[in-house]
Amino acid sequence: MRGRRRFMEKQEILERIEQLKREKNAVILAHNYQIEEVQDVADHVGDSFELSRIAADADADIIVFCGVHFMAESAAILSPDKTVLLPDLNAGCPLADMIDADQLREFKKQHPGAAVATYINSTAAVKAESDICITSANAVKVVNSLSEETVLFVPDGNLAHFVAQRTAKTIIPWAGYCNTHHRVTAEDVVKARELYPEAVIVVHPECRPEVVALADVALGTGGMISYSRETKVKDIIIGTEMGMLHRLKKECPDKNFILLSPKLICPNMKYTNLEKVLNALEKKENVITVPDEIRERAVLALERMLAVK
Ligand code: 13P
Repeated sequence: MRGRRRFMEKQEILERIEQLKREKNAVILAHNYQIEEVQDVADHVGDSFELSRIAADADADIIVFCGVHFMAESAAILSPDKTVLLPDLNAGCPLADMIDADQLREFKKQHPGAAVATYINSTAAVKAESDICITSANAVKVVNSLSEETVLFVPDGNLAHFVAQRTAKTIIPWAGYCNTHHRVTAEDVVKARELYPEAVIVVHPECRPEVVALADVALGTGGMISYSRETKVKDIIIGTEMGMLHRLKKECPDKNFILLSPKLICPNMKYTNLEKVLNALEKKENVITVPDEIRERAVLALERMLAVK
């Protein structure tokens, strides 16, 4: 009885979300790390790059961004005429908070003439101090598109190392890291290899350099989907946030996905649930805005990234 009641409630929430979406001309975007039911209710599920593209082009009055704060903020920067809602304001990104605008200005002073490439996992104020944004889907390509030979790369030091190994440019990293990916160790990869000798090991480039070196391939979350579709190998070990497995299982039902480590859980990505999506839509609550003087500069860095072919 209890189970059935819960199911009915969930069904009612889903119906109400659909109704409000139509009435308010809203679109729901969800990152690949969101919990299953949030991914399932979304109009688009994707990586940071895909979602920023969709947010920029969306033909909607309201964007409900199921992800973390910098993602909703990027949508607000790219679409100032739309109302961007973050269902739970606690959903932050500790990596994005590892550098602020003052620290970046100081870093730039120490390296005059260098370009600033900033991971999309950053605050709007930091983007406003940057030449170009990057995501894990395009990092090497974007860095190579710059005319400067020296590039300050903030805030993720692991991703900076990944790029430095794949470009002729000189990369000067900031020492930030994603708490979730940084927890994975080389030992975790060695153990997984022993347990599943036939499997391929795919990790996110936010992992430590030694983890990336021991894995078979390092890709952003969107890249993991294309790779899993194309590989002939059946067993795929995934070294990124656990929410990714739901997306991968849906996209590639013929493959077996195994999480590299149970440590791969981002608490911030788990704040959002169906009730909070409904609440945000119903009350038009948790609006994310960016002051004009920051937005006008931050948008240039995002648009430059989107223009890289
Ligand atoms: P992707 O752009 O690969 O989806 O990564 C986003 C992110 O925040 C990784 O921790």
